[in-house]
Amino acid sequence: MADRVNRQWLFKSAPKAAVGPEHFEWREGPAPRPGAGEVLVKTQLLSIDPANRAWMNGATYRGQLMPGDVMDGFAIGEVVESNADGLKPGDVVEGSLGWQDYSVQKPRALTKRDGKYDDEMLIGPLGITGLTAYFGILDVARVRAGETVVVSGAGGAVGSIAGQIAKIAGCRVIGTAGGAAKCDWLVRDLGFDGAVDYKAGGVRRALKPLCPAGIDAYFDNTGGEVLEAALALMNMFGRVACCGNVSQYNTGAPPAATSGVPGFLVTKRIRMEGFIVMDFFQRRAQAEAALAGWVKSGALKAPSDVLLGLDQAPAALAGLFDGRNKGKMAVRVG
Ligand SMILES: NC(=O)c1ccc[n+]([C@@H]2O[C@H](COP(=O)([O-])OP(=O)(O)OC[C@H]3O[C@@H](n4cnc5c(N)ncnc54)[C@H](OP(=O)(O)O)[C@@H]3O)[C@@H](O)[C@H]2O)c1
Repeated sequence: MADRVNRQWLFKSAPKAAVGPEHFEWREGPAPRPGAGEVLVKTQLLSIDPANRAWMNGATYRGQLMPGDVMDGFAIGEVVESNADGLKPGDVVEGSLGWQDYSVQKPRALTKRDGKYDDEMLIGPLGITGLTAYFGILDVARVRAGETVVVSGAGGAVGSIAGQIAKIAGCRVIGTAGGAAKCDWLVRDLGFDGAVDYKAGGVRRALKPLCPAGIDAYFDNTGGEVLEAALALMNMFGRVACCGNVSQYNTGAPPAATSGVPGFLVTKRIRMEGFIVMDFFQRRAQAEAALAGWVKSGALKAPSDVLLGLDQAPAALAGLFDGRNKGKMAVRVG
């Protein structure tokens, strides 16, 4: 199959502030061939994540992208050629396949997925998105029935699932999101008990009446103003699960780290804990079974926003920072 064409987005330069199409370069060429012990994977559904933007500016939990690299991205794909044991053409896999049609992979860099779920399910509730929400809410925020839980970025992929898991756990759940329409959607369609439009300003003032008994657990996707507002309303022994910092990824000059611990963290014995979902992967099967069950029963909705065509990837990434997505943002490559 020497005539396969590989379309790719290369990372061209690091954005000084907002990411846009000018930071990527389109290239077309022949698809690579797998060597011994390798497979050729065709990318099907590309996950578009705020972290993609963070990788462009420096090392995070992974190394920095360098100009000229294929833009990295997590994706679901299909094995189309195999010279490796354990994987055959037609197998569905997940991994860092990149913003491209084809990639050569070693089996150890891939996870074979169960073909009984479609790729939107695999990239959403049963992928990094759902697992982050699951472990963040249950293991890091450790929510309990009857508690008040606030989730920021609640209209996005992780936040929409995190809030619903807290509801399943019996909590009162308030979300924050950009715009009145998204806030209405959280309450009407996803069952949140209330929502605050952080773009309208006065987040703390708006959150307070929705959390009359204070906040027991805060799932932080955004950092910034919402984090400050939530911290001020936390109860004794409150927990803050630090999942991400999306309000800072797309800015030219994120604020410096705080020089001291706010006094109320000490007096209220608040626990703030950052986490990376991969730390919990030894319990992935257990989480997936729970998530799949909730989706099947209708207790968990997993909205997605899928753009068609690899050419859409830069716009999809920029769109995350304009809040254009409801639920999981992804690009269908084929
Ligand atoms: N720790 C982990 O292992 C892990 C794993 C996956 C993801 N994450 C993190 O989880 C968070 C959510 O990721 P996701 O994949 O679910 O993305 P997402 O929430 O689907 O997309 C990003 C959302 O952020 C909101 N946003 C953009 N700019 C903002 C700003 N300045 N202030 C507040 N909100 C803003 C937008 O919604 P609005 O319309 O509300 O503005 C947008 O929909 C990110 O911080 C990501 O880095 C962490």
